[in-house]
Amino acid sequence: MKTRVDPYEVQGEINYDRLIKEFGIKKIDQKLLDRIEKITGEIHPYLKREIFFAHRDLEKLLDAYDSGKKFFLYTGCGPSGPIHLGHYSVWSFVKWLQDKFDVELWFQFTDDEKFLYKNKTYEEIQEWTNQNMLDVAAIGFNPDKTHFLIDTKHAGIMYPEAIKVAKKITFSTIKSSFGFTDSNNIGSIFYTAMQTVPCFLPNVLSGKDEYCLIPLAVDQDPHFRISRDVIQKLGHKKPAIMHAKFMSPLTGTSGKSSSSDSGKTILMTDTPEQIKKKINKYAFSGGKETIEEHRKLGGNVEVDVACQWLKYFEHDDKKLAKIYKDYSEGKLLSGEVKAILIEKLQEILFQHQEKRKSAEKQLDKFIYKI
Ligand code: TRP
Repeated sequence: MKTRVDPYEVQGEINYDRLIKEFGIKKIDQKLLDRIEKITGEIHPYLKREIFFAHRDLEKLLDAYDSGKKFFLYTGCGPSGPIHLGHYSVWSFVKWLQDKFDVELWFQFTDDEKFLYKNKTYEEIQEWTNQNMLDVAAIGFNPDKTHFLIDTKHAGIMYPEAIKVAKKITFSTIKSSFGFTDSNNIGSIFYTAMQTVPCFLPNVLSGKDEYCLIPLAVDQDPHFRISRDVIQKLGHKKPAIMHAKFMSPLTGTSGKSSSSDSGKTILMTDTPEQIKKKINKYAFSGGKETIEEHRKLGGNVEVDVACQWLKYFEHDDKKLAKIYKDYSEGKLLSGEVKAILIEKLQEILFQHQEKRKSAEKQLDKFIYKI
């Protein structure tokens, strides 16, 4: 299968080293990890494990931070369906950044984008926006320092900035970046401008000149590759970016987890029973045909989805290393690794669902007041 990685399609077996070259981004190296650790006091497993693996301009942002300048975080959610573990893992890392650096977070809900791109009505997208906001609030961001922007609701402050961005981007750039043709609707052509605005809107609103750091899954990079230069031309700082790899789908280690296939994806609203069923039924196994063979030859952790997913959810390095070792040596069976993962996820989802129940009351605080 041909590989494709852009905001509107993620397909095939992804070679992340090649992607670094193609996208013109940089690997997060040991030197950067050391710099981060010096500030945060510990290094998040997602950094150690190269889940957040690449960046743009992170050195510059840290230089500024070291000289006493704050930055703000910006990330977002396209509300067209239920939230799954892929979203959850990226956002839990964003929470870690917010807590460690003690910074503001601007969180964009792109209801315009999803209305324009998906075969859903405006009302359906609004309902998903409301649902998704509860999940984002449940991540536990600091309510005093987190601001939700909903594109259609905050259009009054966003649109004047969006047209300034749009004026500097041509249709041919959009076409070649996203593979659009003349039959794409005209709203979708404009949309990149809206995703660019939160990179500098906080500074427009406050009169400050802070750096922006965008943690994202790497498929979102093309938007900012186009707009970073434009942002600078408009007199603002180019945002720094941290790129995450995709959590693989349950069914195998290519492409990305997606809610369009909710039967086979773990959703944040799943019950303990659903988690167990989905993992036992669909998680691709790196084990051998028979138990005998497995005991003798061992399993393949690289393709075993339960092993790969534990990189995201078993934060204890020693425990993870032991699971990998035992599985490769055939001491652990596929079913046993799945059982470890199931238990972990049941606990994480239980906690999330508890927080989500009380999130409704917090929304008013999170939504930015114009
Ligand atoms: N377009 C993203 C999506 O479809 C949502 C989004 C908006 C976003 N702004 C962002 C994601 C900034 C990462 C960073 O999910």
